[in-house]
Amino acid sequence: MTEYPLQWKQMTVGVCYYPEHWPREMWETDLARMKAAGISVVRVGEFAWNLVEPEEGVFRFDFFGDFLSLCAEKDMRVILGTPTATPPAWLTEKYPEVLNVTRDGVTYRHGARRHYNYNSPKYRELCARIVEQLAVHYAGHPMVVGWQIDNELNCGVDEFHSEADQAAFRAFLRDKYGTLEALNRAWGAVFWNQTYTDWAQVYPPRRVPMDGYNPHQMLDYSRFVSESAIRFCRMQADILLKYAKPGDFITTNGMFGNLDNARMTRECLDVYTYDSYPSFGEAQSGDASANEFRDRESSRYLTDVRGICPHFGIMEQESGMTLLPAPAPKPGQLELWATQSVAQGADFVSFFRWRTCPFGAEYYWHGILDYDSRDNRKLREVSAFCEHMRALDPVCGAKSAAAFAVVKDFDNACDARLDSWHAKVQAFSEREIFAASQYGHAPYDTVWLDGETPLAALTAYPVLIYPHPFIIDPQRVELLEAYVRQGGTLIVGCRAGLKDMDGHCVTRPLPGLLSGLTGTDIREFTFEDAREPFTALWNGEVVRMPVFDEILTPAEGTQVLARYASNGYAGEAAVTERPLGRGRTIHVGGAFGRDLVKKLLAHAGVCEPFRDIVEAPEAVEIVLREKDGRRFLFCLNYQATKQEVRLKATATSLYDGKCLTGRVVLPPYGTAVFEIEN
Ligand code: GAL
Repeated sequence: MTEYPLQWKQMTVGVCYYPEHWPREMWETDLARMKAAGISVVRVGEFAWNLVEPEEGVFRFDFFGDFLSLCAEKDMRVILGTPTATPPAWLTEKYPEVLNVTRDGVTYRHGARRHYNYNSPKYRELCARIVEQLAVHYAGHPMVVGWQIDNELNCGVDEFHSEADQAAFRAFLRDKYGTLEALNRAWGAVFWNQTYTDWAQVYPPRRVPMDGYNPHQMLDYSRFVSESAIRFCRMQADILLKYAKPGDFITTNGMFGNLDNARMTRECLDVYTYDSYPSFGEAQSGDASANEFRDRESSRYLTDVRGICPHFGIMEQESGMTLLPAPAPKPGQLELWATQSVAQGADFVSFFRWRTCPFGAEYYWHGILDYDSRDNRKLREVSAFCEHMRALDPVCGAKSAAAFAVVKDFDNACDARLDSWHAKVQAFSEREIFAASQYGHAPYDTVWLDGETPLAALTAYPVLIYPHPFIIDPQRVELLEAYVRQGGTLIVGCRAGLKDMDGHCVTRPLPGLLSGLTGTDIREFTFEDAREPFTALWNGEVVRMPVFDEILTPAEGTQVLARYASNGYAGEAAVTERPLGRGRTIHVGGAFGRDLVKKLLAHAGVCEPFRDIVEAPEAVEIVLREKDGRRFLFCLNYQATKQEVRLKATATSLYDGKCLTGRVVLPPYGTAVFEIEN
């Protein structure tokens, strides 16, 4: 994990504001009301290109200049967005080559946002110019504290097929492979007669019959899209860097697919920010049981974000009902969700948005204030949150304490979007590992693995679960081996080691390059038939082996922890353990069901890490952040009913300074943060 400098010296609350949506006369009152609520930062400008460059090459700086002057008067700090997610109509009309094109060759037209492509030389030139103009004029302004590049790179649109993208894809491939022979080999082009004899025949994956896409071409294409987005981001960051005052930060808000966010953050940003909309978890289906975690599931995404940048910010924190047909945040939920972000590592929370816009495509995306601007419950909750944030200042910069880590990497994340087998086991295991961790009060961190990951990023954890590394290369295996040798417990699941970096299935026995670590061999494997569930016996107890099952053959020196007990495989190895150096590798021949994860964590000795501090029901999320020997315990109640936790140590409530021990009641959707006495 890369260590980023702390961007926020104290807990900070902001809000997204669109001065261009409101008559100027409203600005002053709006800023005054924000300040009165405890908000100290506004993010502005990310869709307002036209206000700065109304005609090609004609720049006006009065609009944001006036707004910034008012901010100076009101002591409101500002994060400025670069407006490149919405090119103006004059631009797209004059230079249609900047527009993006779908896989089917249809050009996206002006009228929404994110209709541009990252690779058009013209677009890059015009973006560079507007960014530079903004930076020259505003970077020195005392109220400007940070810059947001574009808005939600790859959100909604993460495929690009314009002519510029075709050319850039070819250049990317030439650079990677050098020759068409090498490309043909990597893409397995001999299959279905795809052999290319001229670079001009090579395209981003266009529509093909029966969705029979070439998986290797698709994998390279995902990497290419990521590369394009990162280049686009870096171009802007390099310009901003020239002008930004020392201490001002450069960020972008995420996070979306086909983008290596960890690499982008490392290479282009000072800090990563995330947009958190927990009600998406509520909206997925009318059937409440379909997503048992609902809003609580956001803790999973926030954990992934923390793996990118340990002290991230929230650029957009949901504050009202969204366009999706989902319920409005119930009384208490707005504050609960914002506190969830802080518990997971955010030291800055900016709400989306100050007031709902009465016009435009987002007139149902609700902000803190409704169309009528009256004081309301949401504003009261924001004020209460701001007050709590002041009390949480000692937590600023504190690290989250994790019982173990889940390993992820960009190649496998791409593969899991493209390969239906991978998608199925990965989605299942991620959800279930989260379930076991949440209900068992054993939080985890995400470690994003890539060629630059230092061993120390792994050895920070006693246990790593790398659920399904379908794709693996010798360099990563070497790193994992070093981790195990120095005393770590590495746990891998089914289909580990199946593919090489081109996405070809390996022809040696599975788990391929990982065999040396696991000391296993796989001769039989199958998807589970839900009507005939797979089970195994671990120390006499039945445990489910869900979704996909591999029959493991242990080599000498590999111990069997659990054996299959069903479907004709009774007695065969299902979970094994192989010692190496001071550590061990556990091989799970399946996906990770929650009861299995519980057993694995118990076996590895990392379950219930906070049992000496607190006892809590499953319904309450428990998180610990630590700094300079001080421990801060977050208790979050996602239920409509009150919940009780029992503090086993003496603790001080940060919200009201009361010293407590024993039973503490959390109101419906209530939160509490305690400093635990050492
Ligand atoms: C975000 C986006 C905002 C706004 C918001 C709606 O994804 O960054 O611009 O569209 O969703 O809630």
